[in-house]
Amino acid sequence: MHALRCLAGNEIRNALGSRIRGNLRSQRRLLSYVLGIETSCDDTGIAIVDTDGRVRANVLDSQQEFHTRYGGIIPPRAQDLHRARIESAYERCLAEAQLQPEELAAIAVTTRPGLPLSLLVGLRFARHLARRLQKPLLPVHHMEAHALQARMEQPSVIRFPFLCLLVSGGHCQLAVVQGPGRLALLGQTLDDAPGEAFDKIGRRLRLHILPEYRLWNGGRAIEHAAKLASDPSAYDFPLPLAQQRNCNFSFAGIKNNSIRAIRKQEWKERTPPDGVISNYGDFCAGLLRAVSRHLMHRTQRAIEYCMLPEVRLFGDAPPTLIVSGGVANNDVIYANIAHLAAQYGCQSFRPSKRYCSDNGVMIAWHGVEQLMQDREGCLRFDYDRIDIQGTAAFAESHEEAVTAAALKCKWVQPLG
Ligand code: KG4
Ligand code: ZN
Repeated sequence: MHALRCLAGNEIRNALGSRIRGNLRSQRRLLSYVLGIETSCDDTGIAIVDTDGRVRANVLDSQQEFHTRYGGIIPPRAQDLHRARIESAYERCLAEAQLQPEELAAIAVTTRPGLPLSLLVGLRFARHLARRLQKPLLPVHHMEAHALQARMEQPSVIRFPFLCLLVSGGHCQLAVVQGPGRLALLGQTLDDAPGEAFDKIGRRLRLHILPEYRLWNGGRAIEHAAKLASDPSAYDFPLPLAQQRNCNFSFAGIKNNSIRAIRKQEWKERTPPDGVISNYGDFCAGLLRAVSRHLMHRTQRAIEYCMLPEVRLFGDAPPTLIVSGGVANNDVIYANIAHLAAQYGCQSFRPSKRYCSDNGVMIAWHGVEQLMQDREGCLRFDYDRIDIQGTAAFAESHEEAVTAAALKCKWVQPLG
């Protein structure tokens, strides 16, 4: 009985594998559809992307409004909300794409890194679907999916390998990206992620009290508030890790200095406990400048490292630079990084804003990239062996080599 089941599994794998690969290679390009499921944190995202990178459906159920009430994500509640919403998100996704489940070629699902309770909901649902439909299950690394997302919109311009700055609510990483499952870390945050720092500072500043920011995340509110600055240089923050000649990041110092500065201003102005300091725009502008500057410095060193004659990670050409993750939505940060990249002749890109933050599209696209890699073993039918991981490193790390190179750079100045 067991042998028979294995044989059937292999037959399905071979038939499906050659059909998908055949479709991808054929001149007339028959399209295959990949379903992507994202539940790593507080967004239930389900999407269908075809092998030409067209989004056929994109459903995103955000839990932001719920968690904002409690001042942060409560993992068991996030899990309950994913559970309550995932089935209907899937139904809506199929309806939007006007597809039958049998027409899907594969199911891609975020398995790592993320909140374990949230990841479990997505994986169990994906496993159940894949088993019922007898489709391959493709496990996806959430940060890799952010890194690859920009290729969906411009696959012929953004070619492997490229350099990527990943900036989100849980991560800050610089990596060389060679393909799905083939990322090499150059540096990462030693403490907070920039989005996390924005969220905590925004909360402490009480921006959510202002009606226009009530339902916004901290990063978005801070970006908007910074535009209201009348004296953008009123607040200045020390540069983190100035003495460490590597590509790591640190945002805890900026966060602590921010909270001290807010407290001092509140005391000075006698701000009531349910009030916001009067010059919050100036404060946000100073904060954005400090974060941009720090991100620029570490990215500049990464570019210089990759271009060292003895390293030449991208051959003779300057690397293409991708900025992705929720914080890549920020126009000030992105403009500064693009400005830096241009000084080295690097082209820079970010995904469309609707795909910078967590969503099901990036997971589906990572699934497409896995299929396009055309590697034996990428079609997974061993459903029960695929599991979640709360934390997950990339395949390789150049961190030690970057630290050993100890590059001293002549800093490119931020814009404005
Ligand atoms: O990638 P993402 O959606 O989720 C994680 O994987 O963490 O990123 C969410 C983060 C939040 O911390 C949020 O504050 C930040 O992205 N964010 C922004 C902006 N929009 C979202 N940060 C700065 N400026 C923005 N416009
Ligand atoms: Zn993310």
